[in-house]
Amino acid sequence: MKKVIQYAVLALVIAGCSREMSPQDRLTVNDKKINEIIAQMTLEEKVEMLHSKTNMSSEGVPRLGIQDIKYTDGPFGIREENGDGFRPLGWTLDSATYFPTGSALAATWSKEMAYKNGWAMGKEGRLRGKDIILGPAINIQRLPVGGRTYEYLSEDPVLAAGLSVEYTKGSQEAGTAVCLKHYALNNQETNRGSVNVIADERTMREIYLKPFEAAVKEGGAMCVMPAYNKVNGYYCSENAHLNNEILRDEWGFKGMTVSDWGGTHSTMGAALGGLCVQMTGDNYFGQALIDSVRNGALAEEVIDAKVREILRLRFAIEPVPEDVANTIMTSQPETQKIAYEIAQKSIVLLKNEVANLPIAKDVRKIAVIGQNAVLTTASGGIGAGVKTLYEISPLEGIQKRAAEAGIEVVYAPGYKNYVMRMAWGRPASTTADPLAANSTDEPADPVLLAEAVALAKDADMVIFFGGTNKSIETEGSDRKNIDLPCGQNEVVRALYEANPNLATVLISGGPTDLRALEPYSPAIVQGWWNGLEGGTALAEVLFGDIAPSGKLPFTFPLKLEDSPAYATGSFPGSNTGEDLFTLMYRLDATGYTREQIQEYIANLPDPISEYKEGIFVGYRWFETKDIPVMYAFGHGLSYVDFEYGALSLKKSKKSIKVSFTIKNLGEMEADEVVQLYVKRLDSAVERPLKELEAFDRVNLKAGEAQKVTLEFPVSELAHWDNNSNQWVLEPGKIEILVGSASDDIRQSIQTEI
Ligand code: BGC
Repeated sequence: MKKVIQYAVLALVIAGCSREMSPQDRLTVNDKKINEIIAQMTLEEKVEMLHSKTNMSSEGVPRLGIQDIKYTDGPFGIREENGDGFRPLGWTLDSATYFPTGSALAATWSKEMAYKNGWAMGKEGRLRGKDIILGPAINIQRLPVGGRTYEYLSEDPVLAAGLSVEYTKGSQEAGTAVCLKHYALNNQETNRGSVNVIADERTMREIYLKPFEAAVKEGGAMCVMPAYNKVNGYYCSENAHLNNEILRDEWGFKGMTVSDWGGTHSTMGAALGGLCVQMTGDNYFGQALIDSVRNGALAEEVIDAKVREILRLRFAIEPVPEDVANTIMTSQPETQKIAYEIAQKSIVLLKNEVANLPIAKDVRKIAVIGQNAVLTTASGGIGAGVKTLYEISPLEGIQKRAAEAGIEVVYAPGYKNYVMRMAWGRPASTTADPLAANSTDEPADPVLLAEAVALAKDADMVIFFGGTNKSIETEGSDRKNIDLPCGQNEVVRALYEANPNLATVLISGGPTDLRALEPYSPAIVQGWWNGLEGGTALAEVLFGDIAPSGKLPFTFPLKLEDSPAYATGSFPGSNTGEDLFTLMYRLDATGYTREQIQEYIANLPDPISEYKEGIFVGYRWFETKDIPVMYAFGHGLSYVDFEYGALSLKKSKKSIKVSFTIKNLGEMEADEVVQLYVKRLDSAVERPLKELEAFDRVNLKAGEAQKVTLEFPVSELAHWDNNSNQWVLEPGKIEILVGSASDDIRQSIQTEI
């Protein structure tokens, strides 16, 4: 009995300690041991840790038995093993699980799914012997055309923050550190290696830094990747304001930073500006760093601090022994199941005007039209491509499900697709492939169109697959526009005229311009780039086995010019130019010599991207300026209706809790994502019309009612005051709005703070 009490007391003490210790402070528990190690190290040994060893590793301390740090790309699949210049090594056990891409994960609005996604990535990372996943990628989706919009989560910081925290916890609890990227304001690919982003402090704090702050403070992220771009005049890898003052001093970050690949630009600047590891190369953080210390320009303590931060991560993350790593296939049934679950929850039903979804029971023959039904989406798009173990395409998913129901499925490509063919590093713009277009604005091909129309006429239902692909939305370049490529609008119109029982499925990572397609699509589904079970999940939604439950993590504007960066003339502006990454790593593709490239980089122009819209990003802009959109932030229909009961409120000094009953009025089980927005009623400060503060996903059986409580900290209602340079909580009246989408508010209640 005595022993039991002793243990109970001990447990309480430990629990008490860890309750007091922030996730970041927990990283410091080995500091005494770490300081002893540092004291034994030579300057050369220390500096050896501060730059790449290989393309995806940095050195440990071999003499003291401290293992190297091994990195791997994410964020939605552990990248295959590659050597110098990212050349794939052709291993056989490194096929990974391809998880739904960033915007698809975000469309689940599920913290649970984000946790599971991170956990599964962490698990697979361990199987491959990796210590750090280069992800999650949590920048705000500022531009609809952004090449990495599909990698990023949302246009809203609260949604992105909630998911980033959970992904981080999941991965790190599975044993692999995350590296939050790309810190910060990395919102465009155009000139990403040199663009100077100009944003005021309020815009940074309230919008762009929020997900990073949360993942560091609440998630305990152990690594952060400074981005390629500059922020207010300084490269992120040498931006003392971002890396030292905000990340370390304010947020209490205790882990390490690693530059984006090729994103280090100086020795002293980066050393004093908060960078720990140069990736890749050692021209700045090698001999030059040793010389700077030896000639007295740089204090050795600065080097020690970097080594300490790296060793904290090294001690927190167990190295995987060489003979254990890579002994079984990276992708495992357990993690594949998680990818599948995320896909099921991510699909967004944008429109279902005549309820032709789910597919009616009397449909006997379906014409599937469009190359996007067969195009795989795991690989491509540069760093975030995945060598997946397998991938069920939408057509395969439909065929399998239809066969079970005895339904016939016919397929035609319908249009040519623009696919940039890449022999390793060598883009081949022309190809003998009869289904490949030479550009995205090539009109519909009359032969393919006629074939598709003939199939449509002869079927009970048409499912048209449109959208983009990974040659169009990719790291390294932004889209020129958000138009549907290769004559897709013409094709859908002809199909609808042939057979109006038509549903459109969009396979893309970002938004597209749907003005021309929408009148000819009684139903529209956003199907994303949805991981290795994407086709299976999609078929379940189309056939009504499950109800769609995804909600848009970004706005579909009516037209590109309406979106904030375009409307304010801050993008593209003078933003044209080559991609630094391509220049540095694709010598074979560019045809330049190393010297020519170095000269080019030294003389890079200094394009500016001024975030003139300020905090009015995404729906904050459209709502405040009263600009109509095609589909609003948070929008997504179900096959059932939900009834929202009246709101009741519980307020304390610290938090606001809102409770209500939600009822599934339909005849099938369904999930609803409930969203809580706050509107200021009497604010003297310029603010968006309303802002998301809380959300949850609720599962309801047919006819079931449940009580839901959403809670958010009052401190979240503070704004950043640019004059006093601090968070200020302005008292006043607020209206709390709860609903199914930003434009579908069902209940509201007023209170004061
Ligand atoms: C990308 C990063 C990626 C890194 C390593 C860079 O080009 O911006 O997101 O992690 O390459 O592949």
